[in-house]
Amino acid sequence: FFQANPPTREYLYKILVVGDLGTGKTSIIRRYVHNIFSTNYKSTIGVDFALKVVQWSSEIIVRLQLWDIAGQERFGNMTRVYYKGALGAFVVYDVTRPQSFEGVTKWKQDLDAKVTLPGAWGGGHIPVVLLANKSDLLQDGHGQAIQPQEMDKFCQEQGFAHWFETSAKDNTNIDEAARYLIQSIVSLE
Ligand code: GTP
Ligand code: MG
Repeated sequence: FFQANPPTREYLYKILVVGDLGTGKTSIIRRYVHNIFSTNYKSTIGVDFALKVVQWSSEIIVRLQLWDIAGQERFGNMTRVYYKGALGAFVVYDVTRPQSFEGVTKWKQDLDAKVTLPGAWGGGHIPVVLLANKSDLLQDGHGQAIQPQEMDKFCQEQGFAHWFETSAKDNTNIDEAARYLIQSIVSLE
């Protein structure tokens, strides 16, 4: 009578969101999970969590557990604890603040030093996607325009899977970046 549905597979992925203070990590997560944005800045203390359930395909449901790590944690000694069991990460910088781009390399090094994929996944580095956030401000004349070729080269040298220009304010490229990271992890399965 009834066609048996193909078995549904569910995956739980722990994803880290790191980057310097005020680069927009919390705003990106709020936009992605709740589709809201606020100009109020309330710095994250320690770590926050959010869950997003994604129907990835007809057979695959992905539960993303997003770990929103405070920018100031780079100077603390808790990141090793926070990173445990993560399968992917976003590193966020603010396109209007070159100093936050310097933080990118430091965050990537911190990730590479402290987190590896579980043995069943090959044990290498987790996929990391770079987010050049607040791109709406570039259109308003703040900061330096992004040079895509330089960014490609930087990502290749630093071992980033990919980069995206994002705006939590305008909801630009956040879904795309998340999809890219999920795909990178799904293809490890
Ligand atoms: P910490 O928790 O302190 O590490 O900061 P954070 O990286 O979580 O930054 P948060 O999301 O709190 O954003 C900091 C400020 O930047 C807030 O005032 C946000 O409104 C603003 N902001 C975040 N994303 C964007 C964006 O895409 N465009 C613009 N114009 N402002 C943004
Ligand atoms: Mg925050």
